[in-house]
Amino acid sequence: MSDTVLKLENITKFFPGIKALDGIHLNIRPGEVHALIGENGAGKSTLVKILTGVYFPTSGKISYKGEDVSFKTAIEAQEAGITAIHQEASMFPELSVTENIYMGHHLKGGKIGALSWRQMKKQTASLLNRMELDINPDTLVKNLGVAQRHMVEIAKALSIDADVVIMDEPTSALTLREVEDLYKIVRQLKAEGKAIIFISHKFDEIFEICDYFTVLRDGKYIGEGRVADHNIDEIVTMMVGRSLDQMYPKSDVEKGDEILKLDNLSSDGVFKNISFNLCRGEILGFFGLVGAGRTEVMRAIFGIDKITSGDLTLRGKRFRPHSAKDAMRQQIAYVPEDRQSQGVILEMSIAKNITLPQIDDLSTFGFLHSKKEKEISVEYGSMMEIKAASWNVDADTLSGGNQQKVVLAKWLSTKPEILILDEPTKGIDVATKAAVHKFVSDLASKGLAVIMVSSELPEILGMSDRVIVMHEGEITAEYSRDEADSDRIIRAATGHAWAEGS
Ligand SMILES: Nc1ncnc2c1ncn2[C@@H]1O[C@H](COP(=O)(O)OP(=O)(O)OP(=O)(O)O)[C@@H](O)[C@H]1O
Ligand SMILES: [Mg+2]
Repeated sequence: MSDTVLKLENITKFFPGIKALDGIHLNIRPGEVHALIGENGAGKSTLVKILTGVYFPTSGKISYKGEDVSFKTAIEAQEAGITAIHQEASMFPELSVTENIYMGHHLKGGKIGALSWRQMKKQTASLLNRMELDINPDTLVKNLGVAQRHMVEIAKALSIDADVVIMDEPTSALTLREVEDLYKIVRQLKAEGKAIIFISHKFDEIFEICDYFTVLRDGKYIGEGRVADHNIDEIVTMMVGRSLDQMYPKSDVEKGDEILKLDNLSSDGVFKNISFNLCRGEILGFFGLVGAGRTEVMRAIFGIDKITSGDLTLRGKRFRPHSAKDAMRQQIAYVPEDRQSQGVILEMSIAKNITLPQIDDLSTFGFLHSKKEKEISVEYGSMMEIKAASWNVDADTLSGGNQQKVVLAKWLSTKPEILILDEPTKGIDVATKAAVHKFVSDLASKGLAVIMVSSELPEILGMSDRVIVMHEGEITAEYSRDEADSDRIIRAATGHAWAEGS
């Protein structure tokens, strides 16, 4: 346990105008799960990319198995036995699961040897089996859900028999069941004597699975310790530089008029008989497992997905959106769960991203009012505390959590009356999460109606006035704020709501 497999000394990484890492130390031991903790933009993913040969450090020393190393490519790092599941998906949607898993290392000798496609398919099947995943190796990745895609990404990392496995927010796209499977895998790797570096913004995970932690703040090394010797407040204080008094600053709001009502809304094979109402000033939480149909219901309200039967009533009038534009015209905003494909345009500036939904209002005869664009980005970007060198830098230079904040700023700036949030704080650090929650809660107290889809129970419990639970396309339970508790909600989410008390 005590010998070090990977050691970083004084690692520095500069980007134009930004010191992403500044004097980082890290000691990774075999058979240990090591949490890398820090706020959005602290430098965690940059460190991962340095360890895996994606970036080259500006200065500093890395030793691996007792030797100084400097990986020039990801393949070099992989061959040495360091593999990572990166924060942003890196899969090829048009290729099969097997092709994705063996992409980049199938023709190499090394530990895998030159396998035939048939062998690779067999290996893939046994790997998926070991992970208890019900996925066919021939399925094209584009046909998998977000969570399954993420699990395949994990399978890919495991297909390389690595000594150091790095997981950069592996659970951000997973829910309960998959998270449990992932924990099993992590424990197994640990038992095999591998070292795991685990990055997460969820403290319940860190306390459940990690042995040791290192904290970064603003690219600097702050400290380290055994997880068992610390409590959450101590770690948060190291991470943020101050203590956080309130995690879920929910204010009590008098419910306003009903603004939206669904009656038996159905979409063939996707969701069935969805009925609920939403009032101004209310935060309605939606909980469920992956595939429960929550996102699809929201997409239907927003005019993206098809409705086969049932009714929608908006402000007392029948409403049938045929496109997102229809919904936006009615002051409905939808923050999607998958920021990479639907949220931000990576090669566009922060300011342009934020003002995108208002592009028609901001331009006359194709001439863009850049002053207005700047005003809006400054107002909403600062409110969301986006950390960037300027509003004009491209979104792809932002850390994962900061990209998520851009998506939130973008939709809030449209001043909606109904705000639908799908996993709004995915990848957002604790301090900012509290700020986002406070912000949403303040807007609700001014009459905004909010639907919040979330797989994070603490968020659902902390923020919702009412909780609706879905299972396999149907609503299985509804609880008031007082009735809602984690046991009940999980039972309903797994389809056992009515077994309560029996
Ligand atoms: N390619 C790049 N060009 C310019 N700046 C970058 C680049 N990659 C990262 N940065 C900057 O480096 C800093 C650290 O980013 P990094 O992605 O490592 O943060 P993180 O700790 O992983 O945050 P999160 O929790 O949000 O994922 C940020 O300020 C980010 O904007
Ligand atoms: Mg990151």
